[in-house]
Amino acid sequence: MSKKSASVWTSIPFWRRSAAWVTGVATVLLIWLTFDTMSQIRMGTDEELAKGITRRIPAPTVINYHIDYKYDKKRGHEVPVIGEKENFFGKQWSGEEAAALLHKGKLTSQAKNCMDCHTLLGNGAYYAPDLTKAWLDPKWNDGTMEGITGKETKEEAMAAFLMHPEMYPTHARMMPNLKITRDEAVALVAFLKHMSAIDTNGFPRNFSQSEKRLKGGTYAF
Ligand code: HEC
Repeated sequence: MSKKSASVWTSIPFWRRSAAWVTGVATVLLIWLTFDTMSQIRMGTDEELAKGITRRIPAPTVINYHIDYKYDKKRGHEVPVIGEKENFFGKQWSGEEAAALLHKGKLTSQAKNCMDCHTLLGNGAYYAPDLTKAWLDPKWNDGTMEGITGKETKEEAMAAFLMHPEMYPTHARMMPNLKITRDEAVALVAFLKHMSAIDTNGFPRNFSQSEKRLKGGTYAF
C-alpha cells in the first residue's frame, strides 16, 4: 500500500514554476509602473502652461500665474487650478529666471532646514504647519494677513513673514528668525508657490481654506 501521494502542494516543480511566473509578472508590472510614474512626474514646460495644459508638476514659470485651489467633485478633493497670468514680485519671470529662482529657493530651504519643523510634499516634521500648500493659505491674501499691513501682494506678505516671523506671530508656537535675506525670502516664496501648484492628490488632507483657517484657526499638527 505505498501509493505515492501526488498532491500539487508538495510538488517541487510546481513551486519552481509558480516562482518563475510570479517573478516574471511582477517584473513586467514594475517596469510598466516605472514608466507610468516617470511620465506623471515629468515637469511640464512653459509652452504647456501657455496652452493651458495642466501637468501634475508644472513648469517653474507657473510662478507667473494665479494659482487657485478648487474642490474637484470627481476626485473628491481639492486640486490646484492654474489661472490667469499675474506678476510675481512685480514682474513676469522668464523660463531661465524662474528655474534659477526655484533652485535658489530649494537650496535655501535645505540650508535653513525648514523640514526640521515643517513638512514639504510629505517629507519633514509636524512641529509647524505643513508647507506644501502654504502659498494657498487665505491668510496671505492681498495684505490681509493679521499684523502684516501695507503689503500689497501675497508674495510680499510671505517674504515679510519669512524675514521676520517674530514680528507676525500667527500661532501659539512661533517660528524663529532664521536670518533669511530678502533674496532668499523671494526665492523661498517662489519655491512655495511652485510647490502649491503641484497636484498632490489632495495632500495634505488637513489643509483647507475654511473660514476657521481664514480666522487663524488651529492646525492638525
Ligand atoms: C524651528 C522650527 C522652524 C523652522 C526651522 C522653520 N519654521 Fe516656519 N514656522 C514654524 C512655526 C512654529 C510656525 C507657525 C508660527 C507662525 O505662523 O507664526 C511657522 C510658520 C511658517 C509659515 C506660515 C505657514 C502657514 O501656512 O501659516 C511659513 C510659510 C513658514 N513657516 C516657512 C518656513 C520656511 C520656508 C522655513 C525654512 C527656510 C521655515 N519655515 C523654517 C517653525 C519653523
